[in-house]
Amino acid sequence: MSFNALKEKGLSLDKQLRNWHLISRKPYNKNKIDCYSRTRQILMNGIEIEAWNFKHAFSRLCPDNDLCKTIAMMRRIEDQQQTTINWLAPKDQSVLETTLAYEQVAVDLTAWLAQNETDKYVKDTFDFGLLEDFDHLYRYAQWAYMEEGICPNDIVQNRTDIIVGRPTQHHHNCNALRIRKPYDKTKTSPQTKVNILTVVSAEQQTHNYYAEHGFAYGNHTLRETYAEIKDVEEEHVTMYESLIDPKETLLEKLLIHEFCEVCNYYTCVEDETDNEMKKIWEFMLDVELGHLQIAADLFKKHENKDPEEIVGEEIIIPSRFQSQKDYVEEILTTQVDTRLGVDKNYSKIKDLPQDWISYDIQRKANELGSPTESTISIISEHIGRDIVCADDKLKEKEIIILSKGLQKQALAPDTVYPESLEEKIRDYEKNQKIKEKLEKEIY
Ligand SMILES: [Fe+2]
Ligand SMILES: [Fe+2]
Ligand SMILES: [Fe+2]
Ligand SMILES: [Fe+2]
Repeated sequence: MSFNALKEKGLSLDKQLRNWHLISRKPYNKNKIDCYSRTRQILMNGIEIEAWNFKHAFSRLCPDNDLCKTIAMMRRIEDQQQTTINWLAPKDQSVLETTLAYEQVAVDLTAWLAQNETDKYVKDTFDFGLLEDFDHLYRYAQWAYMEEGICPNDIVQNRTDIIVGRPTQHHHNCNALRIRKPYDKTKTSPQTKVNILTVVSAEQQTHNYYAEHGFAYGNHTLRETYAEIKDVEEEHVTMYESLIDPKETLLEKLLIHEFCEVCNYYTCVEDETDNEMKKIWEFMLDVELGHLQIAADLFKKHENKDPEEIVGEEIIIPSRFQSQKDYVEEILTTQVDTRLGVDKNYSKIKDLPQDWISYDIQRKANELGSPTESTISIISEHIGRDIVCADDKLKEKEIIILSKGLQKQALAPDTVYPESLEEKIRDYEKNQKIKEKLEKEIY
């Protein structure tokens, strides 16, 4: 369906202010909600945080008082939207449950974006980040079981596989090396701009969530695990935001932000299965169409250019949540040994120079061990092996993936080696057979 957002009026700004009753809505039921309604709620919270944050940065850099007044009024609305969306999460959804959902967002969103990205370099960057968040999901899944007895599939609902990815101990890079090549704003498509801003918003909010909640647990290794993964999310924000052309003007960025919000809400309205949430997405879409009109008018007035040159005439679908198991498996099995190259490119482990700068970072950060590695040793002590949620075909590849993903240089002292994990899995399977036999005899 053709939908030109710039031609829609939306709700005018003077009608967007809501009372407290309408701002704070009834939370969803964590036991009934579809996992992809939850991922939409998490993503749109991140999109609103970015919309609000960007408008503060805008005002701090803008000497035009009239412009600042308009931005201030829009910013308050972004903030109200954020409250409504974030507070749809229920009180009884634990930090670890929410964490699994955050990583499900990262995996399935990034996989969708990678397959809908025409810029090869940007796609490679999405694929690279994808395997890191995929590993975070695996590490947190162990803790969700150990701390709260949660089966990870209660949250991801069998739509996302949980198995080792690129080991988190190898995600620690020199942050300067994370900086990628920006697109050229005069040549890139609106889709690439929206794709990148969507993932930046998601990663930034993931970082902030771990920063604000990682200390919620008493278990010291779990707190360290949050600290370790939060640090990787900082790297992810650095990596994805560096793809954006820094030569975009503030008003151009404002236009792209509002268009990005429109596209994401448009996708939510199309895909939502929960009636209450769908009504919220419809309202929010109307609000954002109103913001887009303002941003387009400001752009025309101050820059004397056509907004369609920047955001095009077609709506974009940046966040269609659906199971991406096949795509993720393909990237996992072929790219787990990919690393950040020294020329802003991507390289295989075997081709890295001996003095690769991230080795120093990894040696320092992991000198007393990597908590995400300890996590696997601890769960193995508890139940005999790691928790994996995937079909048998992928499960059989676990040791091969781990062997390929480990980097011989700068390994953490508490690394779980493939040989040791393989032995644990073998013993576990043997014990399972004995247990099944005993259960049959007794019950
Ligand atoms: Fe917004
Ligand atoms: Fe992550
Ligand atoms: Fe991430
Ligand atoms: Fe907006």
